[in-house]
Amino acid sequence: MQADRFARKVVVITGASSGIGEALALRLAGEGAWLALAARRADRLAELAKACIEKGGRALALPTDVTDETACRDLVDQAVAEYGRLDMLVNNAGITVGALLTDLPDLTLFRRVMDVNFLGAVFCTYYALSHLKKVTGRVVNVASLGAVLPIPGNTSYIASKHAMLGFSDSLRMELVQSGVSVTLICPYWVSTEFHESMMDRHGQPRGEGGREIYTRRTMTADHCAANLVEAARKRKRQVIMSPGRLVQWGRLVAPALIDRLIIKFFFLPAVHRVQAKNR
Ligand SMILES: NC(=O)c1ccc[n+]([C@@H]2O[C@H](COP(=O)([O-])OP(=O)(O)OC[C@H]3O[C@@H](n4cnc5c(N)ncnc54)[C@H](OP(=O)(O)O)[C@@H]3O)[C@@H](O)[C@H]2O)c1
Repeated sequence: MQADRFARKVVVITGASSGIGEALALRLAGEGAWLALAARRADRLAELAKACIEKGGRALALPTDVTDETACRDLVDQAVAEYGRLDMLVNNAGITVGALLTDLPDLTLFRRVMDVNFLGAVFCTYYALSHLKKVTGRVVNVASLGAVLPIPGNTSYIASKHAMLGFSDSLRMELVQSGVSVTLICPYWVSTEFHESMMDRHGQPRGEGGREIYTRRTMTADHCAANLVEAARKRKRQVIMSPGRLVQWGRLVAPALIDRLIIKFFFLPAVHRVQAKNR
């Protein structure tokens, strides 16, 4: 494997201001990639761009809200204007709500999760594709184990990641003749700010409480980013991180049993942890 395989490759990363996106940017910068870093927090992006340049890459901080279609088009246009091409788009921006559907006061948050996680990826992909086709580029969609393995308590998130799976699988076939690859990444728990940022039913970040719901951490953001880079390089269809594949097969064979196991060993303990904390 060439260590500099992404050298001078132009990569747009959404959700680059923290977690997996940030780790990915630093890793690609180390290989000499030319990056366009997108998220809403401009200060974080500016700091990251500096760190990426220090690591040997080029980097542009492009504050972007992916729910804004025009902003997504501008993001792609600015990256291409600066670097002259686009080799890879990583749709990584994501948010979540930890609440039962019937506990939501209305569907505003549900729509917001779909807008960020799913439509944001669609907007960026739509505007990137004409550029990616010119260089047999790559689309990488960061979904979740939730794209193939539903859990209760996150209906909007699970739906948004299932939508990403369907979008990726359909688009991959549409792009076969162009040579542009579509890779879906389905991480298990990754140690990032994601769970603290998880919103409660009123849209407030759960903070430490988010960790009460999802306490198991199995992977660092850098480890996840390393898997992503490898999958993108090999133009893999899908990467389901451990132990997802096992449970996915189980769900094909005995879906009701797997549902019951998830409820008993994952969902109910999480509910009890939250209830105990709120007591
Ligand atoms: N952590 C996990 O356990 C885990 C597991 C499976 C999948 N994932 C997926 O991995 C991806 C990255 O999550 P992470 O774990 O790295 O969490 P994170 O640290 O919270 O990162 C989320 C990123 O999304 C950005 N973002 C949120 N809303 C946005 C918007 N409207 N426009 C543009 N950017 C927006 C955030 O930046 P700003 O706030 O600055 O906009 C941030 O950079 C997500 O898609 C998530 O679903 C995470």
